[in-house]
Amino acid sequence: MEASTCKQDVLQKKKNAVLVDGVILNGPITDSKAGEKFVEEACKIIMEKIIQKADDVTEKVCEWRAPETLKKILDLEMRDTGESHQKLLQLCQDVIHYSVKTNHPRFFNQLYAGIDYYSLVARFITEALNPSVYTYEVSPVFLLVEEAVIKKMIEFIGWEEGDGIFNPGGSVSNMYAMNLARYKFCPEIKEKGLSGLPRLVLFTSEECHYSMKKAASFLGIGTENVYFVKTDERGKMIPEELEKQVQRARKEGSAPFLVCATAGTTVLGAFDPLDKIADICEKHDLWLHVDASWGGSALISRKHRRLLHGIQRADSVAWNPHKMLLAGIQCCALLVKDNSGLLKKCYSAKAAYLFQQDKFYDVSYDTGDKSIQCSRRPDAFKFWLMWKALGTTGLEERVNRALALARYLVEEIKKREGFQLLLEPEYANVCFWYIPPSLRKMEDGPEFWQKLRRVAPVVKERMMKKGSMMLGYQPNQGKVNFFRQVVISPQDPTSRDIPTSHLQDDGKDRILSGFFYCYPESWYCGTSVTCWAEVAVSPVSVVALVFF
Ligand SMILES: Cc1ncc(COP(=O)(O)O)c(C=O)c1O
Repeated sequence: MEASTCKQDVLQKKKNAVLVDGVILNGPITDSKAGEKFVEEACKIIMEKIIQKADDVTEKVCEWRAPETLKKILDLEMRDTGESHQKLLQLCQDVIHYSVKTNHPRFFNQLYAGIDYYSLVARFITEALNPSVYTYEVSPVFLLVEEAVIKKMIEFIGWEEGDGIFNPGGSVSNMYAMNLARYKFCPEIKEKGLSGLPRLVLFTSEECHYSMKKAASFLGIGTENVYFVKTDERGKMIPEELEKQVQRARKEGSAPFLVCATAGTTVLGAFDPLDKIADICEKHDLWLHVDASWGGSALISRKHRRLLHGIQRADSVAWNPHKMLLAGIQCCALLVKDNSGLLKKCYSAKAAYLFQQDKFYDVSYDTGDKSIQCSRRPDAFKFWLMWKALGTTGLEERVNRALALARYLVEEIKKREGFQLLLEPEYANVCFWYIPPSLRKMEDGPEFWQKLRRVAPVVKERMMKKGSMMLGYQPNQGKVNFFRQVVISPQDPTSRDIPTSHLQDDGKDRILSGFFYCYPESWYCGTSVTCWAEVAVSPVSVVALVFF
């Protein structure tokens, strides 16, 4: 029913309508029955078009359209009058249809993928309840849930006690940590601001997440005061280089205050040597923050937690259960070893209208003042319900399985002609080049790399336009564009789907088959002369596109 018809109905039914400024005050402002029906029908669409299709490899990962075309299809304009429910349901279907299915078995594009049914239901519940997690009076359950989850995460880090806060993303966690480390270094900054401070310098590796730069600029530290430490060939921070950089900063007369190590780098999935870095931090009295946004989940696995050896020596840790553990975006915690209330001292503003100290309950549960936010989503609840459902062993299996899948992919890449691994991965980031037939016999040299650089973007474009598979590509530290395939989804191939003895039957191999679906017999059988790669290396041969 349209809003105007609804209003007329109300007027007719309510003879004694109380009108103030032309607004009916004693009539329903929405038709709740119609609303409920709308929700019910929309839920059916969500079930059929998203959830039931999440493991269907025959579906497309994406239905690519160029922005201008998509604008026309979507009817984006917002009009003076409301649309009918029927039209709205159609719009919902369109939105789903043209959105990327990050839960599709062939979505390997990002550091998140797949679907976890329990965290999804938790999200439905919190969307419906619409709580804001700042005071116990408005979020009693979610505050206790957050406390329980943080306690458990702290246990896995290996601290005896600590503190923490869920916040919107690893980038924000890193920013929190940087500010907290600076506050510890000079607490008067909270009142006095930056004036009068020495030049503060922080250290992180060349392979760190870009949020470090953003945080430094946002916090007024300045990107030039982020000293990037060299990494080894696997992308790990070199401790000796860190030591040199700290010495350099001291000689310059600046004030080093923080080292940010990365546990699971974004592109290569490398883990910095935390123990050795912690030694340097201890020696120079520097705050050690570990950005374990991506790699933190390995802590749950008895087999793989050694990757984070030494993490218990960190002062703070960023850990995103929304990545490998599939808790649903966003679900990220900043965890702090300090248990003396540093987080609260650093961030609190003591708003009297919200955090009254004379409330009738224990106000230490009003934890919202530890946050830089006011309204805050109950993100810990998704992780909690999922953890309840799967148990720690279920979460552990999820990590072990992702890393086993990555291993499987690595072995396949080694076997297949035309695929070249960048390096043996430590984690679930499988980085490789695809070398098309036309380049396979070429001598290694600048021309080869110049041509290879153009291959990944073309493959990516073709895969997206077909909707066959999504994976990322990038140049990195002097290496030309290579693919990064992140294998974490539980919808990825199982032994049921991959008859390892028939690996040449590529259509059944979900990990790699997006490539094959995209490039039929022509190249993977090694028989074709008309190869897509010719298009990649020679943009003028547009005609070749026609053959695909
Ligand atoms: C190592 C690392 N840190 C931080 C982030 C940022 O996390 P978020 O996307 O939750 O802000 C990422 C994102 O991929 C990351 O890989």
